[in-house]
Amino acid sequence: MSIEVDPTVLAQPEHEDYDSSGYDTSTASLTSSIHTYLFENGRRYHSYYGTDKYLLPTDETEQDRLDLHHEIMRLAWSNKLHGAPLSEPHRILDIGTGTGIWAIDMADAYPMAEVIGTDLSPIQPSWVPANCRFQVDDATIDWTFQDNSFDFIHGRNISQGVSDWDHLTSEMMRCTVPGGYVELNENAITVQCDDGSMKPDNPMKVYVDNLRASLVKSGRPPMDIDFMKNALEKAGFEDVQALQVKEPVGPWPKDPRLKRVGAMVLLHTDTIFESYGMAAFTRILNMEPEAAKAICDGARLSARNKNYHMYSFYYRVYGRKPEDTTGN
Ligand SMILES: C[S@@+](CC[C@H](N)C(=O)[O-])C[C@H]1O[C@@H](n2cnc3c(N)ncnc32)[C@H](O)[C@@H]1O
Repeated sequence: MSIEVDPTVLAQPEHEDYDSSGYDTSTASLTSSIHTYLFENGRRYHSYYGTDKYLLPTDETEQDRLDLHHEIMRLAWSNKLHGAPLSEPHRILDIGTGTGIWAIDMADAYPMAEVIGTDLSPIQPSWVPANCRFQVDDATIDWTFQDNSFDFIHGRNISQGVSDWDHLTSEMMRCTVPGGYVELNENAITVQCDDGSMKPDNPMKVYVDNLRASLVKSGRPPMDIDFMKNALEKAGFEDVQALQVKEPVGPWPKDPRLKRVGAMVLLHTDTIFESYGMAAFTRILNMEPEAAKAICDGARLSARNKNYHMYSFYYRVYGRKPEDTTGN
């Protein structure tokens, strides 16, 4: 029996002839300039909203990386697409949807819900479930969505594109229905080790330290669980819950599930370091491309060294909008 093909994978658009006519945008008129790109250090970056909004590439290599990371997340979170306790959501919003893979899975999981994914870049497939659609939007400016219009608002790995969290979380609060949920999922920009096998000069640590420095310098707070909790609580969400999982770098753990996660993370290290590092190091820390590449290569080689037992944390934080926001 032949293996059935997933049509959403087939439908990945070829960017050269990409047709934007199927896209909505609530913040700007779509023109061919949506396909304005910057090519730098062998990668393609989207530049319609400027080149400092978001520092990661959006090319095919990056799209493959995002889809791989989605599978890592599914495995790490025991296949749970969200932590928030949803019951029969009608409208779901995914901000910074990337290739839209989470939104598509949610549309399949909740066939009675309408799922909307927004992103700066039109890199989503066109063959998607009937209850899923995408729109080009900048999530960091005022949203044109109505007040109280989503049962669940979700953002995953969007922190590289956000500096003003107060504004973002206030828009999340405004657009969530009373009693509805919001959820943030983010990687810690740290690397951990419990057995001393990672020394302070380990190239992976050097990479992470530089990435943190570039985030701080560019006004993007590196994520940690307290920051994420505080961001939701400050916006007025209640019953804010925080979860975390470990992502081992490589298949070194004895635990079979963590071993599988680690093996997938190792595959992910082929591309993640350059994706996050190249523009951040050259544009923000003013490194020469060769120096930036050497740091990324060092981290990649370090990830392959079975003597280093490194891992990072992945955070999931969610909260509920109060039923009564008038204070009565
Ligand atoms: C690392 S990717 C994650 C994609 C997706 N959430 C996932 O987890 O697979 C971050 C995405 O956020 C988008 N993004 C960054 N800044 C944004 C902004 N200001 N508004 C909307 N999308 C943004 C990027 O274009 C990119 O597709």
